[in-house]
Formats: sequence, C-alpha cells, structure tokens
Amino acid sequence: MTRSSSMGMLFAAAMLLTPAGMLDPRGVSAAAGDVAKGKALFELKGGCVNCHGSGGGGDGPAGKMLAPPPADLTSPKAKAKSGADVLKTIQEGRSGTAMIGFKGQLTEQEIRDLLTYVRSLSK
Ligand code: HEC
Repeated sequence: MTRSSSMGMLFAAAMLLTPAGMLDPRGVSAAAGDVAKGKALFELKGGCVNCHGSGGGGDGPAGKMLAPPPADLTSPKAKAKSGADVLKTIQEGRSGTAMIGFKGQLTEQEIRDLLTYVRSLSK
C-alpha cells in the first residue's frame, strides 16, 4: 500500500467516526438533512411507508383504508408545497386526517432527514 492510499483510508475512517454535523465548520451540514438517513427513517423507524408507500406515492398497505388517503408525496401538488410547510406537517401532523405529528417520536435531526428525503421524492 502506498503512503497516500493509507492516508486516504485513515481519512475515510475518520469521516465514519465523526458525527455528520461536525464535518462542516459553518454548521451547514448540521442544519440540512441527510437523504439516505431520511429514506431509512421513512421505511423503518418513522413507519411512513405503511401509509405513504415505499416510493411515497400514497399507496402503502395501511393507506388503502384511509379517508382522506395519504398524500402522494411524488405529486406536483406535493412539490408545490414549501419546505416549511412540509416540515410543519411532519412535526405537527394534519388535523382531520390520519397524519399524526412526529415531533415527540423523532428527533429534530431525524425530522430534517425525513424532510430532505420527502422533498427528494417530488423532483
Ligand atoms: C397512518 C398513516 C400515515 C402515516 C404513518 C404517515 N402519514 Fe403522512 N399523511 C397521511 C395522511 C392521511 C396525510 C394527509 C393527506 C391529506 O391531507 O389529504 C398525510 C400527509 C403527509 C404530508 C403532507 C403532504 C402534502 O403534500 O400535503 C407529508 C409531508 C407527510 N404526510 C409525510 C409523512 C412522513 C414523513 C411520515 C413518517 C414520519 C408520515 N407522513 C407518516 C398518512 C400517514
């Protein structure tokens, strides 16, 4: 192994051990969500997939029984929402629908990761 490639390995290991929010001295990455983490939260811990479906199309197994049905997160209508609007819905839910608020169940960072992922679905 050459000297430079072993340095690269060390750097990669350091990246893995460093909390993502600390990598950017300006704190930008701490504020922004992580799309891959958001996807995992959507599918596992958040349980969003049960209603919104694996692609976010609003066609999850539990969603079929709901009225109003879960929002299609890939639709132009979803895309037209502002980030602040989507964030509020994830945090506080929407009254009169099955969409509950996740503020107490997920951390602020997890909600940001979800927001980033949800926004990526409607591109
Ligand atoms: C129990 C079923 C259910 C679960 C679980 C659920 N949702 Fe929802 N979601 C809904 C329903 C129903 C609506 C409201 C649809 C409407 O307003 O007509 C909604 C609306 C939304 C909206 C608003 C979209 C828009 O364009 O108005 C977002 C964003 C959203 N959900 C994200 C999530 C995320 C992220 C999770 C997981 C943390 C989640 N939902 C979990 C049922 C669910």
